[in-house]
Amino acid sequence: MKAEPPLVVGVTGASGAAYAVRLLQVLLAAGRDVHAVFSPAAVQVFRDELGAELAPASLDLETLFAVRFPWSERPAEAVPAGVGALTVHRHVDWSAGPASGSFRTGGMVICPCSMGTLASVAGGLCSNLIHRAAAVHLKERRPLIVVPRETPLSAIHLGTMQTVAAAGAVLLPAMPGFYHGVSGVDDLIDFVVGRIVDQLSVDRDLVTRWGT
Ligand SMILES: Cc1cc2nc3c(=O)[nH]c(=O)nc-3n(C[C@H](O)[C@H](O)[C@H](O)COP(=O)(O)O)c2cc1C
Repeated sequence: MKAEPPLVVGVTGASGAAYAVRLLQVLLAAGRDVHAVFSPAAVQVFRDELGAELAPASLDLETLFAVRFPWSERPAEAVPAGVGALTVHRHVDWSAGPASGSFRTGGMVICPCSMGTLASVAGGLCSNLIHRAAAVHLKERRPLIVVPRETPLSAIHLGTMQTVAAAGAVLLPAMPGFYHGVSGVDDLIDFVVGRIVDQLSVDRDLVTRWGT
């Protein structure tokens, strides 16, 4: 059977580092290969929110699955069997696969997405590999899921969201619902991550689906 193409995950310096950790864990646990890129601001937010010293250059599966959220009562996860491969690229590595449209992927997620990165994507700027990979996904008409996090939103933010959506991206704000039987923060994270992986047709039921 032909292997599914890898997915690209860009992690930026918006609040919600836990969404990125959980997303990466879920995609990899589903057996998908993932190419990840962290902006320097993302590294700072990881430290501030999770107390995690994240060195993208040395991030491996063991470290990723061992990340514990300060609020979580879930046991730490071991690296599951059948896990996909994780490749982490430097944020300015222009020779990395996701910098080119000739590198096949099944789509890209920017999670969480800062307003700065959102504006760069809207403006077609390619000053780091996250922006460039997003531009590639738009020009190649491949799925691009953008998970913005900011509140309140200015007219500039709304305008950039409109531009990026009109260019073909799915805007999927980090806006969890509360109707799926929430017993803690992990359930809110799973709500958002579940909606992201649905967009990529990655078959994971993270929350009880409405109507089932
Ligand atoms: C703890 C922390 C939380 C932040 N939260 C947000 C946020 O929710 N949304 C946002 O747009 N920027 C947020 N920022 C600011 C961005 O990190 C900053 O604008 C940065 O330049 C974004 O760069 P990047 O898009 O390359 O990651 C936060 C910064 C820190 C340190």
